[in-house]
Amino acid sequence: MTAPLVNPLRDPRDRRLPRIAGPCTLVVYGVTGDLARKKIMPAIYDLANRGLLPPSFALVGFARPDFESQDFGQIAHDSVRDHARTEFREDVWQQLSEGFRFIRGDFDDGAAFDSLSTVLSDLEVDRGTLGNIAHYLSIPPRFFSVVVEQLERCGLSRSPHGAWRRVVIEKPFGHDLASAQVLNAVVDSVFTTESVFRIDHYLGKETVQNMLAIRFANNLYEPIWNGNYVDHVQITMAEDIGIGSRAGYYDGIGATRDVMQNHLLQLLALTAMEEPVSFEAESVRREKEKLLSSVSLPRRLELHTARGQYAEGWQGGLPVVGYLQEPGVPATSHTETYAAIRVDVNTRRWAGVPFYLRTGKRLGRRVTEVAVVFKKAPHQPFAAGDVSEMSNNTLVFRVQPDEGMTVRFGSKVPGTALELRDVTMDFQYGDSFTEASPEAYERLILDVLLGDPPLFPHHREVEMAWEILDPVLEHWATHGRPEQYASGGWGPQASYEMLARDGRHWRRP
Ligand code: BG6
Repeated sequence: MTAPLVNPLRDPRDRRLPRIAGPCTLVVYGVTGDLARKKIMPAIYDLANRGLLPPSFALVGFARPDFESQDFGQIAHDSVRDHARTEFREDVWQQLSEGFRFIRGDFDDGAAFDSLSTVLSDLEVDRGTLGNIAHYLSIPPRFFSVVVEQLERCGLSRSPHGAWRRVVIEKPFGHDLASAQVLNAVVDSVFTTESVFRIDHYLGKETVQNMLAIRFANNLYEPIWNGNYVDHVQITMAEDIGIGSRAGYYDGIGATRDVMQNHLLQLLALTAMEEPVSFEAESVRREKEKLLSSVSLPRRLELHTARGQYAEGWQGGLPVVGYLQEPGVPATSHTETYAAIRVDVNTRRWAGVPFYLRTGKRLGRRVTEVAVVFKKAPHQPFAAGDVSEMSNNTLVFRVQPDEGMTVRFGSKVPGTALELRDVTMDFQYGDSFTEASPEAYERLILDVLLGDPPLFPHHREVEMAWEILDPVLEHWATHGRPEQYASGGWGPQASYEMLARDGRHWRRP
């Protein structure tokens, strides 16, 4: 067994030294797909451009043969040019693309995997990858087990000589608890637990990681972070786009499975969890799991959930079609493009504080935020008219765009009368830090190559998220259909009624 290479001059505590991946190969399955073109390939280039990939890095693209006529080098070049965050530099591209290889084949084509095996061994010699391999499954989940079995058959899932093997899985992790368990069992039967990296790209966002930093590094928030002060929490992920050409993926999946099961529940966990003992993966995971296990749904789901489907309308000054008119969507589809639910967190800290989660496509604008809405001050020594323009104090984590944080509170309007009105105090990443935040995929791919697991949900977390949402999905499957809402608006009427029933209203983000 070869001893790992250690640079004796490198001190891990030295913040000036960037974390750089070691020699390895990344194999991207489904390399011609949307995600690989728009996110994975550009992120790999951005990492290379920032000097975070070693010269002995190689990339193997694996795609189905229907892409026969396409040239991998060209696809990779075009996706990087169109979507990379950092400037395109010919010298970086040259160095990176010398390590590109491409395999065409179906996912059950044994011969293609045998060729892959040969290519990977050759790269060990040609590029010095030391036999370290990360398999990135950017493919529909129905192919997971086929690919994983091929990898096992070719000996690509376990390393013979101390090199590492990792597998990266993109969501959706199943479509309900039972299917997620089957999927997890398949992956876990071939890869060891610590070598499985499940991607939830929200956890790779700087602003999402900063929620933990802000909560636990400061003394300001903890005393008021509970049901004594907090009235309720609203977690919103709104998109202005429709489904575009993704009907094949999206129809039958819908907003709840696509983003609520993962991104929104992760945001909930980070907002509400207790302080971890450390930021080691195991400690953070333990607190998230504890939190998720304390989440419950209201008994009467028809009163506390809402769903909708975008109808035609206007977006950015242009007329747009409704979901049912999108290419590839059956006219009878019941898939929801908007979902809102109320959940309660049954802990001493959060007793009596509802958490409202909502997400939708073709809403008024693209915005993701977590708004913690505080109770009114217990006593107001003002005349009723003085405070009529004041609403609840609110602290908002602005995940995107305009990354930062806003605090809203009441202040005296200048003048001779005592009149109060809402004002805001803002922290903007762009103003406070000069460096642009990396894309989520840059951070996550680098973490995979470094074997750093804190930002990746464990299989138990994924299953717990399904446990929370399965009853909602079952309820919807047997009761009615999604309500139409106008494109460019803020969702179906039922979502407004759902909050009004609790005596609250949605924020306009
Ligand atoms: C993905 C969903 O996980 O997140 C997409 O599958 C959605 O439907 C996307 O558009 C949004 O990501 P972001 O980073 O733009 O908020």
